[in-house]
Amino acid sequence: MSALPKRDFALEVYMSKWEFAAKHHLTASDAESMPLVSLLSLATPVDRAEFDRMHLGYTETFGAPALRAEIARTYEHVVADDVLCFAGAEEAIYAAMQVLLGPSDHAITITPNYQAAETVPLSICEVTGIPLDPENDWNLDPDRLKAALRPNTKVVSINFPHNPTGKILSQETYHAVVELCRSRGIWLFSDEVYRLIERTPSIRMTQAVDVYERGISLNVMSKAYGLPGLRIGWLALKDRDLLKRLEHFKHFLSICNSGPSEQLALIALKARAQILERNRGIVRDNLALLDEFFGHFPDLFDWRRPDGSCVAFVRYRGADGVEMFTRELIEQAGVLLLPSSIYRSELNPVPEQYFRIGFGRKAVPAGIAAMRGWLEAHRR
Ligand SMILES: Cc1ncc(COP(=O)(O)O)c(C=O)c1O
Repeated sequence: MSALPKRDFALEVYMSKWEFAAKHHLTASDAESMPLVSLLSLATPVDRAEFDRMHLGYTETFGAPALRAEIARTYEHVVADDVLCFAGAEEAIYAAMQVLLGPSDHAITITPNYQAAETVPLSICEVTGIPLDPENDWNLDPDRLKAALRPNTKVVSINFPHNPTGKILSQETYHAVVELCRSRGIWLFSDEVYRLIERTPSIRMTQAVDVYERGISLNVMSKAYGLPGLRIGWLALKDRDLLKRLEHFKHFLSICNSGPSEQLALIALKARAQILERNRGIVRDNLALLDEFFGHFPDLFDWRRPDGSCVAFVRYRGADGVEMFTRELIEQAGVLLLPSSIYRSELNPVPEQYFRIGFGRKAVPAGIAAMRGWLEAHRR
């Protein structure tokens, strides 16, 4: 087997074409970003001076010690030494799968998924997809997971809040997943990049590294904090040997993070209460607009507010089908959505006639207005 992914990353290919060309990016998966000057205005005087004085040399592969310490504070039982920084979440997914899996192993992931979650492990070993059930509010059935386990299952990979549905597992289901992994010593790779944007804090899931000795928690500055341009992500895990092997693998990738980005991530994390409050406010306002918008077209869309994240997977009921709808919408109205074909999986059929909509950004109202204007002109 080749260690190179065998399939292009459909979502990223689509984004390369449209993300910066679309007039209305209505499928962004990140919360509103901010200019550098605004982020710097949130810094303490000491952190600001540190940023201005920075030498632009190589940095520590593990990540700046102060940043790792601040990241550790976002967990219940994590210390700085449990954290390894990466160039975004994407590099961390790639490194983790390459280090954890070999050709004779088996991995399990969920479908639909952020494609790296299946394409990277599939380039290494056999992978089983557990479908989230659209008829049951996109729930994960732990019995299906149990039935898919093999003696050589090494990794179970999950992602909640989930891209693209926003699904969050109930405590009971999450506990069942953790216990299944624990009973077989399986690594639980938990992509938690949409954490901290939940419909209500009471449904927020505990991070895998905090509940399971073989839990590997993935997070990043890109989504809830709205700072994807920093390219600062991280893994938090307790196993020091694995952490070291991951660090050694990173030597073949980015080697180390960008120093200025690390300092900016530190500033943002220290100001996280303020940044998250702003972003959650934007999400709340946009969700109210989406309720209103979808309420106008009950025959065209099945809309239900997602549990968390700033994306939702909405069923399109028009006779033309979602592929045609999304194509015409971008070509004629400049509004970008992601049709379900972008989430095609090699593991399972992915429910058709859905599209991903994003609602983390300030420009969302303009996108909704453009979509509404187009629909009213074309569908009534
Ligand atoms: C579930 C999930 N994991 C990982 C990533 C990658 O994040 P980053 O762009 O910060 O590398 C994304 C980005 O969309 C995502 O949706």
